[in-house]
Amino acid sequence: MAPPSSDQPDEAAGSGAISKVLVVIAMQTEALPLVTKFELVEAATEESIFPKGAPWTRFHGDYKGLHIDLVWPGKDPLLGVDSVGTVSAALVTYASIQLLKPDLIINAGTAGGFKARGASIGDVYLASDVAFHDRRIPIPVFDSYGIGARQTFATPNIVKELNLKVGKLSTGDSLDMSPHDESAILSNDATVNDMEGAAVAYVAEMFSTPAIFVKAVTDIVDGEKPTAEEFLQNLISVTMALDQAVTKVIDFIDGKCVSDL
Ligand code: ADE
Repeated sequence: MAPPSSDQPDEAAGSGAISKVLVVIAMQTEALPLVTKFELVEAATEESIFPKGAPWTRFHGDYKGLHIDLVWPGKDPLLGVDSVGTVSAALVTYASIQLLKPDLIINAGTAGGFKARGASIGDVYLASDVAFHDRRIPIPVFDSYGIGARQTFATPNIVKELNLKVGKLSTGDSLDMSPHDESAILSNDATVNDMEGAAVAYVAEMFSTPAIFVKAVTDIVDGEKPTAEEFLQNLISVTMALDQAVTKVIDFIDGKCVSDL
């Protein structure tokens, strides 16, 4: 069956087979192998669904029974680097949900991992929970709002079938880890940390869109090597592991309902 085009209204979420998948990825290096793998095409600027001025980039196409939209927040207009972090991730996720009405979101990316919790370079995790580690508001209830801990959409069959590791994900807007970040990440009980996941989860939950988080470990945050150096050293090779895992997830999703995941 041909998937409906992305501008058709969605069916009642959860009632039929998944047809529209939104992949949210922060870095171009992480995104391009998947664009190639799924033979996605870039939406031309003149046909962009996004507001004028936004650097957000969308690739789209049909893969098996699915319509895939892959969005990347693009390059910072001033500095020319990938727009990583929670602000860009939340904005592009918000706009994409409104305009594309996906049945499922996959936030894929690289992450730091804690060796004390069993993470190694190249491991791919499915996040069971997400939270922020750099939003400190020491006032009752605001403290919990800042941490923003939430469970992700449960996918027991993906976990069983694809043999991915499962762990909690903690999100903050820095690549390095201050002593405060470290204690907050540990109190979030996280095995992996990134710069987007909890922000994507916040927006997805707001609009009742199931979201899953596939994160591949580029650096060991409780290890000896400087994070930035280890991250850059492993980015390309770990991206291959990430893309293989995302492909397996998408192959698994094809033909299934969200309740089958
Ligand atoms: N992405 C990859 N490695 C990371 C780290 N150590 N911290 C935050 N985000 C990351």
